[in-house]
Amino acid sequence: MKVPGTIGYPIIGDKSREFLSDPTKFITSRINEHSSRIFQCRILNNPTIFVCSPQAVKTLLSEEMANDIEHGYKSILHRLYGDNIVFENDVTANELHNCLKNCFQNMELYKETVNRLCEPLLSSLHLRTEPVYIYPEFKRVMTRMCLELFLGIKTESCLDQTEEITHLATQHWHGIISVPVSLKIPLAGESTYSLAVQAKEKLLSIIRSILLGQNGQGDASVAAKLRHADFSNSKSLEQHLLLFVSAVIPKAFASLITSFIIVMAGDDKEALRARARTDSKFLDRVLLEVERMWPPLFAGRRLVRRTTTLESYDLPKDYAIMYVTHAAHRDPEVFPEPNSFNPDRWITCNAGQEDLVLCFGSGPRCCVGTDLIRRILRDVASRLLQNYEWSLAPPNQDTSYKYLPVARPAVQPSIAFSSYLTNDEPFFDACG
Ligand code: HEM
Repeated sequence: MKVPGTIGYPIIGDKSREFLSDPTKFITSRINEHSSRIFQCRILNNPTIFVCSPQAVKTLLSEEMANDIEHGYKSILHRLYGDNIVFENDVTANELHNCLKNCFQNMELYKETVNRLCEPLLSSLHLRTEPVYIYPEFKRVMTRMCLELFLGIKTESCLDQTEEITHLATQHWHGIISVPVSLKIPLAGESTYSLAVQAKEKLLSIIRSILLGQNGQGDASVAAKLRHADFSNSKSLEQHLLLFVSAVIPKAFASLITSFIIVMAGDDKEALRARARTDSKFLDRVLLEVERMWPPLFAGRRLVRRTTTLESYDLPKDYAIMYVTHAAHRDPEVFPEPNSFNPDRWITCNAGQEDLVLCFGSGPRCCVGTDLIRRILRDVASRLLQNYEWSLAPPNQDTSYKYLPVARPAVQPSIAFSSYLTNDEPFFDACG
């Protein structure tokens, strides 16, 4: 079957601007118009097939389709990152994937760093005289965590270097969101993009000198594991470290913890917090539901390498595919009342369907940092619950979301925390 929708003429038929200005409205209106969660139109001046149901996304990302479908990020992001796993396919991608996965397996290696870096923020929230802007605060902590874990920088003692890398990573990020593509979309000027390319070169040079300084050190940290991992050459290691210290990981983590804090905020959520505090399985369901409703990354991209089919729709060679995680997670056929936050759906109507949550991708190219992020998220969420009650301050804030480039409330939410401690028990042992 032909995919419903029209790809229109080059340039004049392009719908990128409409998509970028309100992605959820764009997707919902097309799904309704075509009565199909798979449809096509022209985006970034490429014929693009949108995939918006969780089963179809899962199939698309599966091993079975790997010969016909390849990653679609190279034309958009390669100049800003250089060679790394995200732009590879086939054997090279598999080798890199396994190599990286090995480096991120031992959670014990994270424990001390995660505890030490989270401690100042998590132990003092109730002492703030002003409401806390949670998103930037958690982004800052996660940025430092990435620098410590992946580069081995002691961020508390190397403040200047930490600030410099953070500044460059922000400049680099601004380039990512201003990406000039074949069809010029005036999101931001060319100069923003050039600055980002310069920031990339500076970041790589800093990474290179850090690696030189650490040469020969054989400690058991994640940074050391990465240094000794089986990359094909030292340039490949540098390029991957650039990926790990770029701004996307801190932003994605801050997005998830912010969504958790907001959905659990307020007097009317006291019972929900009490339940998550005492029932760790319920907390797992809460966090899974947060992933479902607010995946930090709205969508991912693929290219059709060889003509094939998906759910009996034709996927023509050279078409782009956008798999829309946000829309897949809100497919009413799979997730009843998809816009309701209902952690118990995971033991009732959606029991056994956890693999349809695609926040970290799926299949052979799924995220190698999934376990790490879920673990940190769970520990931070536990500590918040063990130690605090919280609510939006002021209470009537607009918490409606913007979804690009990373999901978060359009207006920075601010939260007031009060102490929950009822006895002298120590703080919950993060990563414990
Ligand atoms: C909240 C945080 C994160 C989110 C939401 C996230 C999400 C994702 C998603 C959706 C993909 C799949 C992209 C695709 O197939 O189109 C992915 C891939 C990847 N992620 Fe993450 N990620 C996060 C954190 C991390 C961390 C902490 C690391 C490692 C340090 C990491 C490393 C990677 C790598 C290397 C890939 C590419 C894997 C491959 O292509 O085989 N991510 N991530």
